[in-house]
Amino acid sequence: MSNAAHDRGDPEVAEPGTGESGVTRRPVTDAEARHASRHWWDTDADRYHAGAEFLGDVDLVWGPEGLREADARLLGPVAGARVLELGCGAAGGARWLARAGAYAVGLDLSGGMLRHAVAGAERTGVHVPLVQADALALPFRDGAFDIVTTAFGAVPFVADSAALMREVARVLRPGGRWVFAVGHPFRWVFLDDPTERGLIAVHSYFDRRPYVEYDATGTPTYVEQHRTLGDRVRELVAAGFVLTDLVEPEWPEGQERVWQQWSPLRGRLLPGTAIFVTHRADTE
Ligand SMILES: C[S@@+](CC[C@H](N)C(=O)[O-])C[C@H]1O[C@@H](n2cnc3c(N)ncnc32)[C@H](O)[C@@H]1O
Repeated sequence: MSNAAHDRGDPEVAEPGTGESGVTRRPVTDAEARHASRHWWDTDADRYHAGAEFLGDVDLVWGPEGLREADARLLGPVAGARVLELGCGAAGGARWLARAGAYAVGLDLSGGMLRHAVAGAERTGVHVPLVQADALALPFRDGAFDIVTTAFGAVPFVADSAALMREVARVLRPGGRWVFAVGHPFRWVFLDDPTERGLIAVHSYFDRRPYVEYDATGTPTYVEQHRTLGDRVRELVAAGFVLTDLVEPEWPEGQERVWQQWSPLRGRLLPGTAIFVTHRADTE
C-alpha cells in the first residue's frame, strides 16, 4: 500500500543534480530502485504501520478495502502448501498462512520492515522463517514453492517487473499459483491524497516513467513504478503464467477508515487495488 507522503503528480520541483532534493519522473536502474526501497522502507517502517491495525497480526489482507484471504480464498487450498510471501512487511499474511497449515516463509528487502515481523511473531507466538533478500534474486531453488503471494510488496518497487515475474515463475513448481495485489493502475492518474485533491486526474495513465523522489545529491530516495493493466498481463504471459482472475475489491459500505492516501471518498469512486490471480501454465 503506497504512501500518502508522496504527492504523485505534483509539479517537479527541481532537476536532479542542482543540489536540491525533489521529485521527478525518470528511468532508474534496478540497483537505484533497490537502494532507494531498502533505505525508504527501513526508515518509514514505523510510520507505515501507524494506523495500519486493519492489516491484523495474523491475517492476510489484500488491500485497504479490507478484503481478507479468509473470505476471498484466492490462493486456493493452503494447508500443507509451501508458500512464499514476498515483500511481506510485518508478515501478518505469512503468519495467517502458517496458522492455516501452510509452510510459509516471509521475505522482504527491508530490515526495518522485518523488525515489525519479528515483533508480530513475539506478540502472537506464530513464528515463520523470515528472509531478508531482493525479490529479483530469490535465494530459493527452482520449484521450491506451491504458492507465491504478496499484498503490495516488491512488485511496484522493482525497475524490471518482467524479471520479477520470471523469478517468481522459477521458484514455483509447475502449475504453482502466483497471486499478487498492487495499487490499481488507474490510481496512477491521481495525486496520492485522500481528499478531493485525490479525485482530479493530473497524470497520464500511459506514462510509464517511474515516480522518483531524490535527495540533494540526486540519489533516488523513493521509487514507485507504474504498469498499465495491459503491461501486467503481457509480463505475466511472457513469464509463463495464466491469468484466471483480476479482482478489484470495492470499498465496503460504511467503512469510514482513512489511512494514508486511502479514504471512503476515493474508495467509493475509484478502484484502489488490483489482485492478479495466476498460475504457472505448465502442470506436473
Ligand atoms: C507497501 S509495503 C507492503 C508490506 C506488506 N505486504 C503489507 O501489506 O503491509 C511494500 C514492501 O515491499 C518491500 N519491498 C520493496 N522492494 C522490494 C524488493 N525488491 N524485494 C523484496 N521486498 C521489497 C518493502 O520493503 C515493503 O516491506
